[in-house]
Amino acid sequence: MAFRPLSYALGAEVLGIDLSKDISAATFDEVHQAFLRYGILLFRDQHLTREQHIAFSRRFGELDCNERSPDTDPQYPELIIITTRPRADGTPSESRYTGRLWHSDLCHTLTPAMGSLLRCIERPDVGGDTLFSNMYLAYDTLSDGMKKLLEGLHGIHARGRQYDTMSTERVAFLKGLRPVAQPAVRVHPETGRKTLYIGEKVKQFVGFTPEESRPLLDFLNRHATRPEFVYRHQWRKHDIVMWDNRCTQHQALGDFDMTQIRHMERTTIKGTPSGYLIEAA
Ligand code: OGA
Ligand code: MN
Repeated sequence: MAFRPLSYALGAEVLGIDLSKDISAATFDEVHQAFLRYGILLFRDQHLTREQHIAFSRRFGELDCNERSPDTDPQYPELIIITTRPRADGTPSESRYTGRLWHSDLCHTLTPAMGSLLRCIERPDVGGDTLFSNMYLAYDTLSDGMKKLLEGLHGIHARGRQYDTMSTERVAFLKGLRPVAQPAVRVHPETGRKTLYIGEKVKQFVGFTPEESRPLLDFLNRHATRPEFVYRHQWRKHDIVMWDNRCTQHQALGDFDMTQIRHMERTTIKGTPSGYLIEAA
């Protein structure tokens, strides 16, 4: 097994591993250490069944089955399905716009995701790329003054999905959820390093008006997604990309022909509790 860095900022490709086979504890430990070091791991040419995708993901911890993705197969509650494939009745899938804002998975819940493993089942001819950014670097490169300012702040994370594409029941379900406040700076529980924890789903800071929050949020989002902090992944069929949600953010790009099929399946590893519920505005 070997690791090939994907960009200066983050990510490595794992070479010489077949995830459909049993993985020894020693090999798994090496993969886990690389995951902590690089933030993103890419496994190419992995011809896996859904069961094997789920089984490998479980090695990292308990899987989250709570995110109710509208296009998920009830037989596989562990898999979030993100697809442009229309539903059986010919209507468009609801999941086709998933992830179009910079975010960290399950940031709007009290147990944000530890990791996610996204598998490319089908891809369009061109595009459908995903961007990832390194939130350690984003934090480390702030001034001491800004670090101090952020230390006590909590961002309010809202759902960022496009309501106009959804059934009224689903909108009601989403709107019934109270927003969650998360610290703007978090400590990674395994590496002990500080990370910036914001994103485009944050609408305001606790104790500030949306108008007051906007300039700071705009600055932080622009800063955190500077090209030198970003890796852009061009998907190939049978890729699995695994990311650490505690120190990275990601964004799905709409840079493709949406009449073509882009079909992705994701498992989500549960994280540790973070943040608190606030009253809906
Ligand atoms: C996700 C997500 C990105 C993509 O699976 O969490 O945001 O490129 N998807 O589909
Ligand atoms: Mn996501």
